[in-house]
Amino acid sequence: MLSGKNVVLGVSGGIAVYKACDIVSRLKKVNANVNVIMTKSASEFVSPLTFQSLSQNHVVSDMFEEPKTWDIEHIALAQKADIFVIAPATANIIGKMANGIADDMLSTTVIATKAPVLIAPAMNTNMYQNKIVQMNIEKLKNLDYKFVAPESGRLACGDIGEGKLATPETIVEAIKAVLIKNKDLEGQRILITAGPTREAIDPVRFITNHSTGKMGYAIAKTAIERGADVTLISGPVNIQKPAGLKKFIAVQSAAEMFHAVMENIDENNIIIKSAAVADYKPKHQSDKKIKKTDDDLSIELERNKDILKEIGKAKGDKTLIGFAAETNDLIKNAKAKITKKNLDFIVLNDITQKGAGFGTDSNIVKIINKNGDIKEYPKMSKLHLSDIILDMING
Ligand code: CTP
Repeated sequence: MLSGKNVVLGVSGGIAVYKACDIVSRLKKVNANVNVIMTKSASEFVSPLTFQSLSQNHVVSDMFEEPKTWDIEHIALAQKADIFVIAPATANIIGKMANGIADDMLSTTVIATKAPVLIAPAMNTNMYQNKIVQMNIEKLKNLDYKFVAPESGRLACGDIGEGKLATPETIVEAIKAVLIKNKDLEGQRILITAGPTREAIDPVRFITNHSTGKMGYAIAKTAIERGADVTLISGPVNIQKPAGLKKFIAVQSAAEMFHAVMENIDENNIIIKSAAVADYKPKHQSDKKIKKTDDDLSIELERNKDILKEIGKAKGDKTLIGFAAETNDLIKNAKAKITKKNLDFIVLNDITQKGAGFGTDSNIVKIINKNGDIKEYPKMSKLHLSDIILDMING
């Protein structure tokens, strides 16, 4: 049941518009509130009155129509949505969304929403396979827009191939999957480390690395949504911390991260170490700014503790997941880290690949377990990858 859930359904033009009627009636049957926005061309295929009767809500299609009695402006609809669905989605609306174009009611409303967006494309096979359309889909997927893939079959134009709108039943199931987020991690206590560390040289300078914390923060957000109690220990980053954390500890150096982790390890049963910890720190930290001279300067570095290795020694039956950022001998290096640090899994990044590693919203990884089994994944958003990592722990 989707009682109390607001589904905003964007309908763009194409022969599959009639199938969107079935989507609305299926959603009504499970008690969702449905507001339909139609593009002008969609209303050439099926009258707005049909959608109005099925949804029992006024249908919006013209950006400049007078506000009706209820909250009709596009911003209100964008805010009201628990999910924003576009079905059928034409190449045109997909192209607009991928490129930030907002020139009618539907494209303007979807650009203003913070709700998850689910897109069900429907178009001629050649259009669907067009490289620009595929690039737009890829771009949206990397930004965490969700897709219900079209099916193959005989299309309205007579062609046979990919491009048929997924069935209303499949689309409604996909809507339910987004709205009823599985709380399968309830009762799990997860400690996550994220971001870089900073090792001070003097009061103005430090040694650090390119980590932005995006991967660890994505795992924390996803784990909270799935019901876990999450403690996040973070080096200095520029991203907002996820809502709903049990505990948040901000640290600067590897030594501070080590202490924070050790103090919190007992109360957690899963530890995910996505932080990029500095392996070395300056042996001497000057409490005054080091002034330049005409000579060269050497900084002597000493080893930081390997936090993950220390946890590995005392892990007992806790689940321990490490990350490996590698540029060469990927599998060999990652497997060595599993053994050395006593890990259950390692998430291996080839940081030389475009779309993987530091600073990106996507990642390309292999996950290796302690038995040496390797699973390889295509490029995907860090949020999607978070679900995969959490599934592995839970499975
Ligand atoms: N790690 C840690 N403490 C350190 C260094 C690394 O806890 N002092 C953890 C990281 O959080 C990560 C894993 O160890 O989960 C692997 O980090 P990585 O930098 O890939 O490897 P290192 O063990 O530092 O080895 P190397 O730098 O030689 O590749």
